[in-house]
Amino acid sequence: MYLQMPKLNDFERVSLLEGPTPIQRLTRLEQCVDGRCALFVKRDDLTGLGGGGNKLRKLEFLLGQARAEGKDTLITVGARQSNHARLTAASAAAVGFHAELVLTRTVAKSDDDYLYNGNPLLDNLFGATIHDLPGDADALAFAEQRARELAGRALVIPAGGSSAIGMLGYASCAEEIVHQEVAMGRYFDKVVVANGSHGTQAGLVAGFKALGHSGSKVQGYTVLSPLAEACSNTLAKAQQVAALLGSDVTASDILIDDSELGPGYGIETASMKAALSLMARRQGLLLDPVYSGKAFAGLLAAINAGKYDGQTLLFVMTGGTPGLFAYRQALA
Ligand SMILES: Cc1ncc(COP(=O)(O)O)c(C=O)c1O
Repeated sequence: MYLQMPKLNDFERVSLLEGPTPIQRLTRLEQCVDGRCALFVKRDDLTGLGGGGNKLRKLEFLLGQARAEGKDTLITVGARQSNHARLTAASAAAVGFHAELVLTRTVAKSDDDYLYNGNPLLDNLFGATIHDLPGDADALAFAEQRARELAGRALVIPAGGSSAIGMLGYASCAEEIVHQEVAMGRYFDKVVVANGSHGTQAGLVAGFKALGHSGSKVQGYTVLSPLAEACSNTLAKAQQVAALLGSDVTASDILIDDSELGPGYGIETASMKAALSLMARRQGLLLDPVYSGKAFAGLLAAINAGKYDGQTLLFVMTGGTPGLFAYRQALA
């Protein structure tokens, strides 16, 4: 086992986090699951820019890449309520870049809260240019075309910031967790996380592997892709990060559950709503309706089924709270 990933220092990075995010114990929630396991959260929702969330870890490396390549504009793609797009806009504002967001209407919701509240409201506040595209548009092709028009000034960031460079942010988070394990004198049997564009899980897996742990220390819950696709894409992405770190990832390192996908991406489920409400009422903490709410619902179901009896678990709170305001009708 190692404590450092020296190769991470080979990559440019712009500091957006204030330091390690806290790990906190959910003592009142543990009582609701009959003390079956010790339950902790990694507060990546507390990253201090633009409302916070997991994407800032990726954006540290993506901004480093953009600076190294002499760019001054970030272009990215996502759904209308993309947290990644919002944090791209905030990060660009923080360093004096411009952001262009190519947002598609992929989720079948057309009420005003979904279309204009939450993330898009903040995108506008951060001064980003928004391109509003229909659900079937090729957002990445549109982004590449805009980059050509800007004649080399723009870095195009794929969905969720999950390029090989972006995902280094979560390899770095794995290093942070290992340091916190040592400091706390506790070892997490599982690190549980939502899987959307796959990069958070892929980065964690590649990071833990580079530090001599098993990738199966990470349990993902897919909220976007069907199971087989989520597994193969996450493996491919983890291998991309591993190649940058000089480590190695195989299929047995990728654990993904699809039990909380429900009717599809961005569509609410009863178990997500119950998980949001339990976390809010027992701990005063906010999950989001699209990602962490579904993943936490899956974790609760697994705990209640006895899957983790006697174990110590770490759930990564990935942010996304502006999305709550977009789901006002569903959560009322
Ligand atoms: C709040 C939140 N949690 C989790 C995720 C999932 O991360 P990834 O796309 O890296 O799988 C996202 C991605 O958009 C997100 O916005």
